[in-house]
Amino acid sequence: MELRVLAVGDVVGVSGLKHLEKHLRGVKRLYGVDFCVVNGENASVVGLTPQQADAMLDAGADVITLGNHTWNRREICPYLDDSAYILRPANFQPSLPGRGWGVFETKAGPVAVANLIGRCSMDFSPDNPFRVVDKILKDVGDLPIFIDFHAEATSEKLAMGYYLDGNISALWGTHTHVPTADEQILPHGTGYQTDIGMTGPVVSVLGVKPEQSIALFRGELTSRYETAPGPCKLCGAVFTIDTKTRLCTKVERVTVL
Ligand SMILES: [Fe+2]
Ligand SMILES: [Fe+2]
Repeated sequence: MELRVLAVGDVVGVSGLKHLEKHLRGVKRLYGVDFCVVNGENASVVGLTPQQADAMLDAGADVITLGNHTWNRREICPYLDDSAYILRPANFQPSLPGRGWGVFETKAGPVAVANLIGRCSMDFSPDNPFRVVDKILKDVGDLPIFIDFHAEATSEKLAMGYYLDGNISALWGTHTHVPTADEQILPHGTGYQTDIGMTGPVVSVLGVKPEQSIALFRGELTSRYETAPGPCKLCGAVFTIDTKTRLCTKVERVTVL
């Protein structure tokens, strides 16, 4: 049996969320998607609220993953404990709210989804993701497993891909908001893309008004980041999994304007 899993990149701002609500079900139909994981860490530009998480689940996400902006909207904390359908990086300190991986039902039976965060050019306080993932794999056992690795460095994401190759169904990167053109099946059968991009305004710097980003890089005083105006795009990837082997047979990059 085949399982088709859609991963959607960081949803940015009100307009990104609206674009997701408008297009996600159509994309799922078009690609015959059975299960969908959406990164939601930027629905409030930085962070997300419980209402925004609910909206993403209503729009057709089966699971929401997060990243370095998990804690920017603190009202999400109880939601992370209460909802089984949202994950925060598993290598955050275990005492923090929420969970980093879970098991979810699909037409092909249970699958595991895990969220990890990288440390290169990012916060150094999370645990080593390469060590934490060993324990997750042990706990998950022989279920198909899908991982959103939220990280800045392409090297860290590629190294994780090769580290887990053959032992997980697929791994994709999030966080940079720029999709990479390297969707592939790694030598031992794991589906992989270094970064799947974002769901947000096309004319923007990572979803934010270009002038705000330019001011930051010019060393000027900056205002609170605002989502750029204008049309959005949805970026993601569809991983087709052979449920017998739990490995990937096809990876397709997805862009919906
Ligand atoms: Fe992001
Ligand atoms: Fe991020």
